[in-house]
Amino acid sequence: MSAARAVTAVAGTNIALVKYWGKRDVALNLPATGSLSLTLDRLGTRTTVAFDDGATDRLVLDGAPADDAATTRVSAFLDRVRARAEIAGRALVTSDNSVPTAAGLASSASGFAALALAATRAAGLTLSPPELSALARIGSGSAARSIFGGFVEMARGERPDGSDAVAHALPEQGPDQGSNNEGWDVRLVVAITASGPKAIGSTAAMTHTARTSPYYEAWVAGVPADLTAARDAIAARDLAALGVIAERSALRMHAAAMAADPAIIYWNAATVSAIAAVRALRARGTDAFVTIDAGPHVKALCRAADADAVAGALRAVPGVSETLIAAPGPGARVVEGA
Ligand code: DP6
Repeated sequence: MSAARAVTAVAGTNIALVKYWGKRDVALNLPATGSLSLTLDRLGTRTTVAFDDGATDRLVLDGAPADDAATTRVSAFLDRVRARAEIAGRALVTSDNSVPTAAGLASSASGFAALALAATRAAGLTLSPPELSALARIGSGSAARSIFGGFVEMARGERPDGSDAVAHALPEQGPDQGSNNEGWDVRLVVAITASGPKAIGSTAAMTHTARTSPYYEAWVAGVPADLTAARDAIAARDLAALGVIAERSALRMHAAAMAADPAIIYWNAATVSAIAAVRALRARGTDAFVTIDAGPHVKALCRAADADAVAGALRAVPGVSETLIAAPGPGARVVEGA
């Protein structure tokens, strides 16, 4: 296979408004609950895959050869693509994240969504979006959602093989999913509160939470009602209703992790101050709601018209080094070589 076909795909990251935190099957990476997210127009990944006759898979991440752990994770993922396409070639994978330098925001969500699309096309396969979503999920649960744009729901699924544990774009947002629908012009304001990688990766942290937190079962039991309410809020384009659910879901996820033994605490002082700043804005009448992932950064959901004011309030928080405003974005797409 010396005439390698290089395919480049891009995907935006997504931020969960109803969080995924726990697995029902580790080998197939099946989530314990559904989740619901917003795919963003920035903070994405651009990945090029070319299968060739090299001896091993090679991963170049943000311009430098990746470490063994990252390369092994990508190689295991490529094994599934090779098996499906019935090819043997190893691959050169070049992946770049559009995140602020050293912000610790690099995302497995956009990474595995872009990789799933680029690798399957480079291997000569054309998968449907649900098939791509199921494949991306095996790389990282949140990546299943970045195949689609705008508001996306990930199904828990019931089948043991995971074929129904896939995401779909929520139809309520209309045909121009991912664009700024009139009357539903939302933004996520990201406040960077630290530099460097997170203390504990989400895979290990959610497994530890499930094993040791007395709050884990209560967390899992509460998610289906949040999903129904979030779906209804999106259908009604009710930002305040959606925001209340999102903030509560994030705080409950973190509460379950904090109650693990030993505790998992992702927050720093600036995280707490940023939460307080957003809640203070809200008390003064601005619809802004926080969400926090497996790290110390704070993201605020708000209307487009309020985004500059929310970003200004967050920039004034001691310890917040940078803010950026993201809009809803499209799903994963091929940009070169298909
Ligand atoms: C807090 O998708 O990174 O961002 O499936 O183990 O790769 P793995 O986990 P990952 O977990 C995401 C956790 C979260 C919440 C969310 O995105 O739903």
